Amino acid sequence: MAILVTGGSGYIGSVTVERLLAKGEQVVVLDDLAHGHLAALPAGIPLYQGKIGDPELVARIAREHSIESCVHFAALIEVGESVLDPAKYFENNVGQGMALIGELVQAGVRRLVFSSTAAVYGDPEEIPITEQSRKWPKNPYGWSKLFMERLLDTYDTAYELRFVALRYFNAAGATEKCGEDHRPESHLIPNVLAAALGQQKAIRVYGKDYPTPDGTTIRDYIHVADLADAHIRALEHLRSGAKSDFLNLGTGRGYSVLDVIECARQVTGCPIPLQVEPPRTGDPARLIADPSRAKALLGWEPTQSDLHSIISSAWNWRLRHRDGY
Ligand SMILES: NC(=O)c1ccc[n+]([C@@H]2O[C@H](COP(=O)([O-])OP(=O)(O)OC[C@H]3O[C@@H](n4cnc5c(N)ncnc54)[C@H](O)[C@@H]3O)[C@@H](O)[C@H]2O)c1
Repeated sequence: MAILVTGGSGYIGSVTVERLLAKGEQVVVLDDLAHGHLAALPAGIPLYQGKIGDPELVARIAREHSIESCVHFAALIEVGESVLDPAKYFENNVGQGMALIGELVQAGVRRLVFSSTAAVYGDPEEIPITEQSRKWPKNPYGWSKLFMERLLDTYDTAYELRFVALRYFNAAGATEKCGEDHRPESHLIPNVLAAALGQQKAIRVYGKDYPTPDGTTIRDYIHVADLADAHIRALEHLRSGAKSDFLNLGTGRGYSVLDVIECARQVTGCPIPLQVEPPRTGDPARLIADPSRAKALLGWEPTQSDLHSIISSAWNWRLRHRDGY
């Protein structure tokens, strides 16, 4: 019996694969490698290079490896691109996601952990954000994730597919082996570190007049290893017969863009110049999770998610992979 990890060669998927293997689990990866990295996977792991929307391939994997659960990371993740080309996002994240889950249900799989996102909340009405807070995404990427959450909810009722949808806030940091290498990179911390290495002239700061203490946006950063741990706990939770759920994964504490840059200056010892740009449309001032439900249900506690540990781990990985994988 094995666990299917879709998107397992991507950033969060590869760290989760690493942690699942360390727990002694059998793991199979399905990834088209369009945005993932072969080098992020341990040697010898079964990898199927293909689309989650390929029904024959998914049926074959389920058969050949007796898949018992799925951790579904595979998705396109660029918010800006989703605004310019929503069809691409709905086809990949929803159309192909639905094909994947349909095949898994056909094959008898009844447990799934889904990568959702804080983007389902859009511009929050309250801080911290609880799972009950209003969900009204501000972009097609966020809608593609909310559609998948709704789909899973109906599949739970109709086909007894039990799932945990994990709504991550801002994933960051690295392990010894696996780090963040998105192309293009839109996330703050890897771009700050690229500026520290002189690979970018300056770090772009989008907006300095938000209603926050220093005028820059505030986000809740969660270490990728803490995220991986939450996936493993969510799987165990489902194996114990628990019902389906939606859970926030964050720390409950926020840092501004300037806090991140200042901490990165301390960690790297580099000056890191910044360049102020106009604010991006649809960027909320604050996104901070209330993670108490995930803590209560999964017994999960982030242990590596203080900002200094996150940035130090990302910096150590960057120094060993200056140009990425
Ligand atoms: N990075 C974050 O801060 C963050 C925050 C919230 C949610 N998420 C979600 O977490 C998941 C993983 O994010 P990530 O940062 O690791 O992204 P990533 O781009 O590094 O990994 C995604 C992987 O999925 C693969 N993939 C995409 N579409 C596919 C398809 N149709 N068929 C097969 N493989 C496909 C890509 O090749 C890639 O390896 C995504 O679902 C994303 O929406 C990420």
